[in-house]
Formats: sequence, structure tokens, C-alpha cells
Amino acid sequence: MHQDVEQILYTEEDLRRRIRELGAQIAADYAGRTPMLVSVLRGSYIFMADLTRAIDLDLTVDFMAVSSYGAGTVSSGQVEIKKDLSDSIEDRDLIIVEDILDSGNTLYYLMDVLRARKPASIRICTLMDKPERRVKPITADYVGFTIPDAFIVGYGLDYAEKYRNLPYVGVLKPSVYTQ
Ligand code: IMP
Ligand code: MG
Repeated sequence: MHQDVEQILYTEEDLRRRIRELGAQIAADYAGRTPMLVSVLRGSYIFMADLTRAIDLDLTVDFMAVSSYGAGTVSSGQVEIKKDLSDSIEDRDLIIVEDILDSGNTLYYLMDVLRARKPASIRICTLMDKPERRVKPITADYVGFTIPDAFIVGYGLDYAEKYRNLPYVGVLKPSVYTQ
């Protein structure tokens, strides 16, 4: 275990098992359609790679980058598009793939931007959900794990751009971000 990690919340095997279930559920819900999975970079990149391979359907992928955090652990509420989608989403069945739903600021803003582009439908799939911290009225349609309020890293999730490559999800030691 990494020295900055206090506790492992989900092991590689926990993640694999849950993502297989999410993939099966999405495949059943979208049977006969070709959903477009939109990964919100950078935190969701590993989840996106595993989730898409767990969905036994024709689908397309696209990527978007937004920023709201800087190097802190609390969302600023100011969201900026750093990289936009490559393809049109008009009349597509969108599934937004997020690493973690926290205050909801990022998705609240993103949903507004994407709705204006007239997709056929939009759903949200998040690996982690911290409902206690919600500020905006956003709920995900697919949730991997509901977790308490702690700052977590690994499996794509970062603190100040570090720890994304940990194969598990763990709680970051508070001493790392408080001085
Ligand atoms: P929200 O806008 O507050 O919902 O924040 C969403 C984004 O904040 C996520 O996509 C993550 O990039 C980041 N975030 C929120 N909580 C955590 C955490 O516990 N660890 C790492 N990143 C987090
Ligand atoms: Mg992040």
C-alpha cells in the first residue's frame, strides 16, 4: 500500500466485480441502441476503459475535460471546459462517465451544456458517489459505490495529479493535504 494511503476502500477485485455488474446493467438498459459514453477527464479514464469493456453492446466513446478543483480537495463551483467533445451528440443516447460525484457542481454545469446540444437522452454513471456532500440537485443513474465523506485516491482519482495509477481506491491520509 502507498505510504500516503490510510486505508484501502476497494481492492482491484472489488472494482472489477462491481464494474462487471454496472456493464451488464447498462447493456440490458440500452439493448438495441448504440449509446455514446462520454468520459469526463481526467479522473474517469481508468473507469471508462474498464466500463466500456464490460458493456456487451455497440457503443461509441468520446472525451471531455473540465476543471473545477485546482490542487485543493474542495470544489470551487467554477467549472471550465478544458477540452470539448470531438463528435456531435445530437440525437445520441449519452452516458456521462464520471469518477466521483461530490458537490455536484461539475455535473450540474456539464448537464446544462450537453442538454443544449439536443441529445436523445442523458444518463450519468459514476464510479463513486458522496451524497452527503451534495450542493447541487444531481443524482446519478448508475453508481458503483456510495461512500462517506473522505478524500479518496487511486484508480484514476488524484490529489494534486498524484495517485491516479494506484490499482485500488484508498482514503488519502489527511496529513497529505493539511499542514
Ligand atoms: P464535484 O463538482 O464537487 O461533484 O466534483 C467532482 C470532481 O471532483 C470529480 O470528478 C473529481 O475529479 C473531484 N473529486 C471529488 N471528490 C474527490 C475525491 O474524494 N478524490 C479525488 N477527486 C475528487
Ligand atoms: Mg480530479
